[in-house]
Amino acid sequence: MPDDRRKGRNQIAAFVIQAAAVGFGVVSAVPAEADFKSPAALAAEAAPEGAAKAAELMDALMWNRGPIGGPFDLIDQHGRHRTDAEFRGKLLVLYFGYTYCPDVCPTDLKAISSAIDLLGPAGEDVQPVFITVDPQRDTVARLRGYVSSFHPRLIALTGSAAQVRQVALAYKVYYANVTSGNGEPYAVDHTGFVYLVGRDGKYLGFFPPGTPPGRMVEIIRPHLAP
Ligand code: NI
Repeated sequence: MPDDRRKGRNQIAAFVIQAAAVGFGVVSAVPAEADFKSPAALAAEAAPEGAAKAAELMDALMWNRGPIGGPFDLIDQHGRHRTDAEFRGKLLVLYFGYTYCPDVCPTDLKAISSAIDLLGPAGEDVQPVFITVDPQRDTVARLRGYVSSFHPRLIALTGSAAQVRQVALAYKVYYANVTSGNGEPYAVDHTGFVYLVGRDGKYLGFFPPGTPPGRMVEIIRPHLAP
């Protein structure tokens, strides 16, 4: 094998090992051995139920296992029914979080809002949507106050616990209430990917948490071309 090819292989092997170490599940692309276990399976053995579920959902999202995305029928910050069907023809930027989130949600919502502004007039074809994973506290009124501080066109959605669970799971979003036990309000542990849904309503892909607005714009723009 030529040196550069061997080097390439070694780099791939190193990546696979690194990815496995952080639980990203890349190894499933490697031929299976009899005693081989996926990172998700290992996590399921080693970690509490919630953590195992988080790893499984992230694994499914990152490697595009099974369908991602699906219909929703929820209530917006003005108390109106909104369904996924009404957004056909627009690009959806979808984010799951909760209004009491101390820093990650606001950061990503700010990035989404800036990206839409950076797109200029083309940004009119992009609809930002925030779906709460804390429907218990994120009431219609609470959402109305929250989203107005990010972007005038941001739609925030809530619903029953079951409705929220259904759409979150469709997008492989992990979330769970976490209590500190010292009387403080609960936090919601949640994955923070930013989803892109095409004009036809089909899932296109995701941005990792912390993606800067300029990079979002570069990736969104080709999907806005007529
Ligand atoms: Ni958050």
